Amino acid sequence: MKILFRALALPLSFHFLSLAHAIPSPEAAHGGSSQATNTTDDAMTITPRQSSCLSTGTQSTINALFSSGGANTIVSLCPGVTIPITAPIVFTAPGQELSTQGYPTDSTRATILIQPGSTVTSAIRGNWQNNVKVLNIQVDGNRPNAGYLGGDALLEMGGGTEGQTVSHTVVKNTRSWSCVHFIGSGQEDNPCRQATVTFNEVGPCGHEGTDPATGNGLWADGLSIECMDTTVTDNIITGATDGGIVIFGSPGSHILRNTITSSSSSGLQFGGINMVDPTWSGNYSGVVVSSNTITGGPGSFINLGIGMGSQVWSNPHPETNFGQVTVTNNVFTGNVGFSIVMNGWLGGLTVTGNSVSGVTTPSSSFASASGCGAVQQAAFADSEQLVYYPAGVTGSSGPNVIQSQFTALSTNASNWLCLTNPAPPLPDTESFLPNTLSVDASTSRVVSLRDFHVQVQGDGNVVGIDTTGGVWTVKWASSRFSSACGQDGSQCLLAFGIDGNFVMYDGNGPLWASGTDGSGQLLTFSREAPWVTVTGSNGQTLWTIGNM
Ligand SMILES: *[C@@H]1O[C@H](CO)[C@@H](O)[C@H](O)[C@H]1NC(C)=O
Ligand SMILES: *[C@@H]1O[C@H](CO)[C@@H](O)[C@H](O)[C@H]1NC(C)=O
Ligand SMILES: *[C@@H]1O[C@H](CO)[C@@H](O)[C@H](O)[C@H]1NC(C)=O
Repeated sequence: MKILFRALALPLSFHFLSLAHAIPSPEAAHGGSSQATNTTDDAMTITPRQSSCLSTGTQSTINALFSSGGANTIVSLCPGVTIPITAPIVFTAPGQELSTQGYPTDSTRATILIQPGSTVTSAIRGNWQNNVKVLNIQVDGNRPNAGYLGGDALLEMGGGTEGQTVSHTVVKNTRSWSCVHFIGSGQEDNPCRQATVTFNEVGPCGHEGTDPATGNGLWADGLSIECMDTTVTDNIITGATDGGIVIFGSPGSHILRNTITSSSSSGLQFGGINMVDPTWSGNYSGVVVSSNTITGGPGSFINLGIGMGSQVWSNPHPETNFGQVTVTNNVFTGNVGFSIVMNGWLGGLTVTGNSVSGVTTPSSSFASASGCGAVQQAAFADSEQLVYYPAGVTGSSGPNVIQSQFTALSTNASNWLCLTNPAPPLPDTESFLPNTLSVDASTSRVVSLRDFHVQVQGDGNVVGIDTTGGVWTVKWASSRFSSACGQDGSQCLLAFGIDGNFVMYDGNGPLWASGTDGSGQLLTFSREAPWVTVTGSNGQTLWTIGNM
């Protein structure tokens, strides 16, 4: 389609930069004549070699330009400007474009910034308009300041359209479930099709965990794509927390050379590239996923690098995903729990040349499988990266070609999205200020250290136990017993008092004490001798358990 450069009909109140930075007209840029302007639309005015850019305004300014300009209007933002918005920018006619003047690819790209206090989650809405373009800008959902909010994605594109483009754009800090969403149309004869999503920098998107107030997941996708025959290439997606790229069916789409990395500031990322949802009735025919790099970054991890099939995500569904699909030459590195898992696919997978040699081993060094089913736990314990269930990956529309490193499961295991952060390592010591420790024998546990446990017992004894390897070895004991602990042990109380005295009480009163009242400042338990100490204001040792 011919790109027409459209003059902006501007109210005088809009402030524009001088024309010194005029960009060539697309005709000139494409080698055509700059005066060969042939329009059948009276409202359409071509202004070759003249351009102005928007240097200030809000969504209202931009929306007025799109509404009055009609089809093919380009709203060109000045480099470096920030446009604060409290409602979406909406494309209102085919071929409209929002871009930064001169199409820079660095930090001078203009920024669309959602304002705190607003209830908007979508900064830009391009649904149901053919060939609209978001080029060379930055879209910031401002989640750290505006807050998490359920709602539509930060960029909402797609619908019954063709030829939409999002390129060279930064999309980050979505308040909602996705940074970029191309929605399907729900119409078989007018599907979302032939979109282009290239060279974008996406993320962070979402957070690990759930909202304590609502229970809603805080995580978000990087790119959520439901359009067929779509090109998703050369994007850099860093710090997505749900799926880096979620392919919702989207037959015929090519997902190539994307770089997907989890980030410690966002936490756990569930998936790198997902082919798990039953959208398009599970039709993934002709999808190609090649030469992508999926990395679990330091201090974070990706649970599932590429998930394929109806049975691998946390919500297994009875419809089987299907179609001849090619997944080749993808590279997995760093903290990735499972690189590729396939179960619940019908017809013709080619999965070859994928590299897992750079994945961190053992997997247990960055994640825990304790919440997984037995099959997943066993695969995880063996740091298996390429896993499939042969009976769940059957050919009907073609043969399966699967690289030989895959481990074939003998059991139909669903839900591979079960990994969690490992429990933080226990400390070597734990200290208490006066008046901060009070434990009775009905509670029993005083401290848990690395391979070490201190407990107060119903017989009045206080004991330090080495638990290395699950074998309990008593390292020290107070050995002052009492028969006045009460039936449930609650009368025997170990406390570091407000006066700095470390005291064991039973039903009759103090059983023993450190005698550091007035001078004890800190009580410290350690997994090594001298095990228990009370220290004074200069850190000097006043008492140890060995003084008893
Ligand atoms: C302008 O458009 C008309 C109608 O499509 C066409 O006949 C004519 O050749 C065009 N002229 C130029 C200069 O492109
Ligand atoms: C899957 O999608 C492809 C591409 O649109 C189409 O040709 C094919 O008929 C679809 N298959 C089914 C079973 O719907
Ligand atoms: C695997 O289990 C799921 C869930 O029970 C089921 O829907 C699916 O058909 C099973 N796959 C095979 C190959 O039996």
